[in-house]
Amino acid sequence: MIPLAVPNLSGNEAAYLQDCVESTFVSTVGPYVTRFEQEVASAAGTRYAVATSSGTTALHMGLLAMGVGRDDVVILPSMTFIASANAISHCGASPWLMDVDQRSWTLCPQVLEAELFAKAERRHDGVFLKECGRQVKAILPVFNLGMAADMDALGSIAEEWALPLIVDAAAALGAEYKGKMSGACGAIASMYSFNGNKTVTAGGGGILATDDEALAKMVRHLSTTARASSDYDHDMVGYNHRMTNLQAAVGCAQMEQLPMFLQRKRQVRARYDSAFTEKGLKPFPRPQWTYSADWYSGFVYPFEDVTDFRNRLRKKGVDARPFWKPVHLQLPYQNAVRSEMPVCGQLWDRIVTLPCSTHISDSELEKVVNSVLEAL
Ligand SMILES: Cc1ncc(COP(=O)(O)O)c(C=O)c1O
Repeated sequence: MIPLAVPNLSGNEAAYLQDCVESTFVSTVGPYVTRFEQEVASAAGTRYAVATSSGTTALHMGLLAMGVGRDDVVILPSMTFIASANAISHCGASPWLMDVDQRSWTLCPQVLEAELFAKAERRHDGVFLKECGRQVKAILPVFNLGMAADMDALGSIAEEWALPLIVDAAAALGAEYKGKMSGACGAIASMYSFNGNKTVTAGGGGILATDDEALAKMVRHLSTTARASSDYDHDMVGYNHRMTNLQAAVGCAQMEQLPMFLQRKRQVRARYDSAFTEKGLKPFPRPQWTYSADWYSGFVYPFEDVTDFRNRLRKKGVDARPFWKPVHLQLPYQNAVRSEMPVCGQLWDRIVTLPCSTHISDSELEKVVNSVLEAL
């Protein structure tokens, strides 16, 4: 089976792990953690980056540091991995789910504006949902598939309503928005995931990248049990969410290969797009404002039998998969406040994702292309 997306560990990963073992720096303090933070900050285009145990915990810590707490509300596109919504819930807050833009599969500015006008009101002390009085604290766009959202449009709505933007850029390291790096396009902070299926992995791990020094300090503090001194003084209820040196060692070896990884992801995407578009299959979107990191590749299947189609491909040795079931269809969020979902509601179960590891060979790529054409 040609796998969907598996880690490419062909660089210095083993050597750096060995170095951790020999130096005994295997836990949350160590030179690789600091180096990984610096390298990801530079790739994200921010001054600071704080490494955590996962993307989910980075988002959780970021939201808490921004003041999101019990009974608050955070705006989120429904077309995302459930972890984006979970990070909001972990703060005691709730997601307000909205539809995505047909052009980008990211949070739709028109829906955002219409929903805010219909369901929220501005008071002197913030933005509140009219029906239940809960305070809306932030807007959380997701850079779906490695594409930046329409940040200028979202930014001007956020400014009008005085709401901060925090981005879930889990798979968007290396993406650009109008020539700006993914962490430098108007949000207070951006989260990156280093889970095993991401372009750059650390085995697991996350980064919160920001230009805001106070926010970075608070995220670091919260994720390291809020230690106020080396004498076991703790000034808040903190979390043990720091990345380990072992994870960061793998992450550093991966960062050395980031340009090559991105190049291959983009080649894979270009090959599939050209092969399938001419057969009438709709490729994943490519909005003109973003230079996507092309995390995942695939297409929208136009017929009803999409599950059969994926199974036919799997029988041919091609690991074709579905994509995220939207958050508004997930059991824990069945009562979440939401917009209508005409775009993501019709789209999500027609998506076919295709093998796109960074070390997929040219012959494997051609096997995928031919298998899709045959299965059609
Ligand atoms: C969009 C999105 N948000 C959040 C996450 C959560 O990241 P992690 O698995 O590192 O906790 C992921 C990936 O797993 C993701 O793809």
